[in-house]
Amino acid sequence: MATLETTALVIGAGTGGYPCAIRLGQLGVPTILVEKAKPGGVCLNVGCIPSKALISASKTLVKGRHAADMGITFGEPSVDMGKMQAWKRGIIKKLTTGVAGLVKANGATYREGTARFVGRDGARTKVEITGADGTKDLVIAEHVVIATGSLPIEIPGFAPDGRYVVDSTGALDLDRIPESFAVIGGGYIGLELGQTFQRLGSKLTVIEGLDRILTAVDADMAKLVARQIEKDGGTILTGARAEGWREKDGKAAVSVRVGNEVKEVLADVVLVAVGRRPITEGLDLAAVGLSTDAKGFIPVDAQKRTKVPGIYAVGDVVGQPMLAHKASHEGEVVAEVIAGKKAVDDARVIPAVVFTEPEIASAGLGEDEAKAQGLDVRVGKFPFAASGRAMAIGETNGFVKVVLDAKDDRVLGIHIAGPEASDLISEAALAIEMGAFAEDIALTVHPHPTLGEAVMEAAKHAIGEAIHVQNRRR
Ligand code: NAI
Repeated sequence: MATLETTALVIGAGTGGYPCAIRLGQLGVPTILVEKAKPGGVCLNVGCIPSKALISASKTLVKGRHAADMGITFGEPSVDMGKMQAWKRGIIKKLTTGVAGLVKANGATYREGTARFVGRDGARTKVEITGADGTKDLVIAEHVVIATGSLPIEIPGFAPDGRYVVDSTGALDLDRIPESFAVIGGGYIGLELGQTFQRLGSKLTVIEGLDRILTAVDADMAKLVARQIEKDGGTILTGARAEGWREKDGKAAVSVRVGNEVKEVLADVVLVAVGRRPITEGLDLAAVGLSTDAKGFIPVDAQKRTKVPGIYAVGDVVGQPMLAHKASHEGEVVAEVIAGKKAVDDARVIPAVVFTEPEIASAGLGEDEAKAQGLDVRVGKFPFAASGRAMAIGETNGFVKVVLDAKDDRVLGIHIAGPEASDLISEAALAIEMGAFAEDIALTVHPHPTLGEAVMEAAKHAIGEAIHVQNRRR
């Protein structure tokens, strides 16, 4: 067993860990980044990137059909799922190879292996790293960053079996289009992947335990997604609990309890997407005096320090929201803290995007959430149906909603359902981060004709100054 000494050791090369290691390298801090699987973590390998690849491929199919409205007709398209998956794998390969290269180019050392805490050596921490071949090394580090991420939650009776029941990783790797596709959980993953297979031709059934899908976003926005799923021939069961399944005529027959009734949903593939849980097993946190909270997360402060000096944690393992960009931001903050800079995670807003149809993007407080908190809010809305650009691209479904504090018109939240919502939301995040008032967005000249004008118009609408939609009297 070799013993290595370093200033910083980062455990996990996902979107929390690898930006942390890159930034540490840039700041001249000797750093080892250890990863047991492939660089890039869930996001690059089995999450954000492969899902967005399949989502955009499946949308191309729909766009081709809609082109007939614009006077362009193609023949009936065919889908080669094997080729689509190979294309997706090519993107992953480029990105993951890029990550390893960036880590190295910035002066950090990348190592394959599984890390486990062994104990403390004064103020330093001892971590054992086991390589794929079983060889073990001891790393003694002044600073250790835990960035081990999360895993899909399993529900009893629905363990992935490689054929009928899959988790998100399995669904992203399907090499065939199931005739029928059921998802348990109407959240981010269930709906993004459910609508993807629906566009590719699967008959979709969504089984959601609560009384509506997408509870993380305002009800008026979630409704647009529900309507689209139903318009495309899908079924949404709410207040529904999947109790078990059995094989029936080459399909999975899922028993679903809705109120007092038990229904049977037949599906070729069942995706379980009921949330994710933090990964700490195997780390032996107790060896260094660390423990998790009741939900399994590692408690940290605003500098992402755990209660043990010199040990930090970032990303999904420290709590919600479990989003890649939140993890990266935290990883970069920790790198600065370790390098002795006065850094702290004081982000006012973590934007979130659900890549459904329509896309839903949010930054800041939702209207429902603000009202539930008893806040006095003023709301402005602008529908994409009134946007010249949205008409020109043939995508008018959705709207922008701006939520203001009624006392001073400060922007509390901006929510977008519609075309390119994922790209439009960054302006909203900047506005909230800068403490903008509605007027700041209204007086910022937005280029014409663009979808971004809808954000400006919604801000103007909130203060009674919209040009292309009727204002409410103030
Ligand atoms: P989720 O928390 O978004 O949704 C899970 C849904 O399952 C909830 O609506 C919940 O009420 C429902 N549910 C829970 N137990 C159930 C049961 N037994 N039967 C029926 N319904 C049940 O979780 P999801 O979709 O698994 O995604 C996990 C996380 O991954 C997200 O919360 C998000 O943080 C992240 N993610 C982010 C994406 C993005 O940024 N675009 C995309 C995909 C995932």
